Parts: sequence; C-alpha cells; structure tokens
Amino acid sequence: MTSSSKRAIVLNGSPRRNNSSTLHVTNAFVRGLEDGGYEVKYYNIADLKITPCLGCLSCWAKTEGKCVIHNDDIDNIKKEIEESDIVIESFPLYFFGMPGIMKVFTDRMMPMMSTYCGQEVPSDGSPFHGIRTPKEGQKLVIISSCAYTEAYFVYDSLTTQYDCICGKNNYTSIYVPQIKTLIDLHNENKLNKFLNKYKEAGLEFANNGFLSEETKSLLKKPPFSVGAYKTFLAMHWEEEKNENKN
Ligand SMILES: Cc1cc2nc3c(=O)[nH]c(=O)nc-3n(C[C@H](O)[C@H](O)[C@H](O)COP(=O)(O)O)c2cc1C
Repeated sequence: MTSSSKRAIVLNGSPRRNNSSTLHVTNAFVRGLEDGGYEVKYYNIADLKITPCLGCLSCWAKTEGKCVIHNDDIDNIKKEIEESDIVIESFPLYFFGMPGIMKVFTDRMMPMMSTYCGQEVPSDGSPFHGIRTPKEGQKLVIISSCAYTEAYFVYDSLTTQYDCICGKNNYTSIYVPQIKTLIDLHNENKLNKFLNKYKEAGLEFANNGFLSEETKSLLKKPPFSVGAYKTFLAMHWEEEKNENKN
C-alpha cells in the first residue's frame, strides 16, 4: 500500500464470519471501491478479542479519550479505523438491531465520542454526542442484510440508533433483504446480476463519496417478489427439517 492510497476497512460483524451472506454484498461493494483506487482491509469482529465496556466512563474525564482496558484488540482496531477514509460496518439484522458482538464493539467506541455535558437533544439531525477528534472527510457505510421480505420498517430502530450516534446525514446505509435465500438457491447468474448493482455502487461511492438517490432506490429492490420468496422459504425450511430426520 502506498502512503497516498485511499484506505477502507471492513468490520464484519456477522457471527457467521466469512460465511456471512451480508459479506457477499459487502465484497461486491468493495470490488467497486477497489476499482476506484481504494485499498481495503477486512476484520472479523467475531475473531477479535473485545472485552465489553466496563461502564466506568473514565474515557470521558479521568483518562479523557482513552479506555482503561488495554489487554484486547480494541486499541489496534481503533488505530485502523482512524487511518481509514471509509469504514464499512457489515452485519446481519438481529432482532431489528445489530448483533450482540457488534454492540459490544460499538460500546467500546465510547472514548471516540465527546463527553456528554447535558446538551439538549438536537433537532437538526446532528449527532447526539459528536466525535472527539473527527477525521476530515472520513465516511461510514453500514451494509446490513435481513431475512424479511423488504428492508423498509424492519430497519427503523437501527436507523434511529445510527442517526443518534452519527447524525442523520453523516453515514450511508445499504440494507439488503432476502440475500441469504438468493445465495442458498445457487443461481449464479441471478446472484451475480444482483451483486453487480452493489459493485457499481461501490465505484460510485469511491468516485463521489456518496450514493445518488437513484442508486439508493435501485439497491433497495429485493431479489424476489413476496410470493416467490414465501415459496422459496417454505421449501428451504421443509428441506432443513427433512435433513434433520435422515
Ligand atoms: C438471532 C437472529 C435474529 C434475527 N433477527 C432478524 C430480524 O429482526 N429481522 C430480519 O429480517 N431478519 C432477522 N434475522 C435474519 C438475518 O438477519 C439474516 O438471515 C441475515 O441475512 C444473515 O446475515 P449473515 O449471513 O451475514 O449473518 C435474524 C437472524 C438471527 C440468527
């Protein structure tokens, strides 16, 4: 990697590690970023040693900006985040939020947030706390997949959470329904066609630093109709049950 190359980091927060369906989408997006000149590093959150936050809030006063826990992988990953121009969080939707391992990781980012001094809830979409030392131009991209028929409504809680943490327009979200079923069907043509949209979006993001409204709405389109998806899911669960019996 040359010192001038643009860097992105993928934080894979699926407990399924490299088998993650979400990661298929993220990998496609990354291929677009790479075409746009980015060097990309991956980390599986599930493989890192991350001690849960102790809740001492030392990072907001006594050890300002620093966590008291040092014997795990957070210091290293924070350094990688700080050096990246794009941070991609890739994870499945679990109970309408982020998976537990991702929440444990997020809690440990507390030293990065400004100390809360009683300010009122912002009404202009700005972040609730603000970042202590923001990196100029750094972008956050959330790529998440879910099993629901479509991504509207089911992502409301997660969106609210990220709006509060980052500020309404300070991150890009890509929510992808039905992808696991599309992968399980082994229809390579359909899968590649579907993923190609995300590769093109990655290139667009590399070039412009944002996604157009047109691209965002294209990415929201699920791979199957509600009826077809119901049929595939019914077949899938039936097969799984039978596998268990044999
Ligand atoms: C514990 C658990 C909770 C889940 N909760 C939801 C949910 O709230 N909404 C949804 O649509 N899918 C839910 N799912 C399905 C996953 O989001 C979906 O299968 C996802 O594509 C898996 O991604 P991955 O392979 O990257 O881990 C849940 C799955 C698990 C295991």
